[in-house]
Amino acid sequence: MTILGIETSCDETAVAVLDIKNPNNITVRANIVSSQVKLHAKFGGVVPSLAAREHTKNIRRVFDLALKTAGIRDFKKEVDLIAVTHGPGLGPALLIGIAFAKSVAMIYNKPLIGTNHMEGHVYSNWIEQEEPVKNIFPALNLIVSGGHTELVLMNDFNKYRLVGETMDDAIGEAFDKVARLLGLGYPGGPAISKIAIGGDSARFPLPSPMLKSKNFDFSYSGLKTAVLYLLRDLKEKGAELDEQTKADIAASFQHAATEVLVQKTIRAAKEFEVRTILLSGGVSANKLLRERLEKAAHDNDLKYLQPKMMYTTDNAAMIALAGYFAYRKNKKTAVWRSVDMHANLGF
Ligand SMILES: Nc1ncnc2c1ncn2[C@@H]1O[C@H](COP(=O)(O)OP(=O)(O)OP(=O)(O)O)[C@@H](O)[C@H]1O
Ligand SMILES: [Mg+2]
Repeated sequence: MTILGIETSCDETAVAVLDIKNPNNITVRANIVSSQVKLHAKFGGVVPSLAAREHTKNIRRVFDLALKTAGIRDFKKEVDLIAVTHGPGLGPALLIGIAFAKSVAMIYNKPLIGTNHMEGHVYSNWIEQEEPVKNIFPALNLIVSGGHTELVLMNDFNKYRLVGETMDDAIGEAFDKVARLLGLGYPGGPAISKIAIGGDSARFPLPSPMLKSKNFDFSYSGLKTAVLYLLRDLKEKGAELDEQTKADIAASFQHAATEVLVQKTIRAAKEFEVRTILLSGGVSANKLLRERLEKAAHDNDLKYLQPKMMYTTDNAAMIALAGYFAYRKNKKTAVWRSVDMHANLGF
């Protein structure tokens, strides 16, 4: 099948074209991502109405470029299915992608499938891996992104069970907020991990919240507040917030934030007796998390998968692939009239 994927749930306008024969035979023909990060950086976070305005401006250009890159000349003949993110995400932003996808599906009389953005992150693990992704179920997904921190059990394609989630902030949000406290700008994740390289994570021990709790839930508001109090105490003592101190705080935060993820994921993997651990979501770009989780999985004789770096943040290739699986499950719903927005969609 040739599938066109469309993604506008947050601040990336993305369109991709994939040829999918089966889950082990996927060719990415085009994967165009137009990021609005610079625009939102001024505001310290994504402004939904601005995101929608930019998607409106960009989507046609991104769509045309994706078709050109993939070498699609005759859309009607060459494309079999359109997949669009219908949630979760920012309502105004999602609506632009959905409206555009509906128009294209209507004009070319093509099936259109609404796709779960988080399933997209999960399936990013199947794209352009060095070895075929086979015999992995049951698998445990650790999904870490700007809006989510979730542990999702997967017994087969399309079979999900949420076994843990954050009680408050998502991990990506915590990175972004702590970066703001340190004056590092938006997005915070890459900025924190960059300066943390030169930092000493033992200088300011910070709590790993809910590390010892029996369930598989997470919480990041306490860790964020601990950083706030640490900065306040340093200021009261008259200590200078020099570059080394900032790097040390970033390293301590990164260590505390990732340690709880690694330990709880391994504990859940044992409890549910899975064969594989899969990492995904924007925060899966974090080098420390990638290294720590890979090592912990191997130490516990578990298979381990993580997406290629270019597929960690939002893209439409993962949406096209998630659309392929959703379409395999339920072809009947793949009509443009029945696709709606679900801003709070879960598993
Ligand atoms: N190297 C990194 N270390 C830590 N966090 C990172 C890194 N790179 C990106 N991030 C974080 O990833 C998040 C963005 O991820 P993503 O694009 O998947 O989120 P989203 O699509 O906005 O949210 P969701 O997928 O939950 O709807 C941001 O919070 C960003 O700070
Ligand atoms: Mg995302």
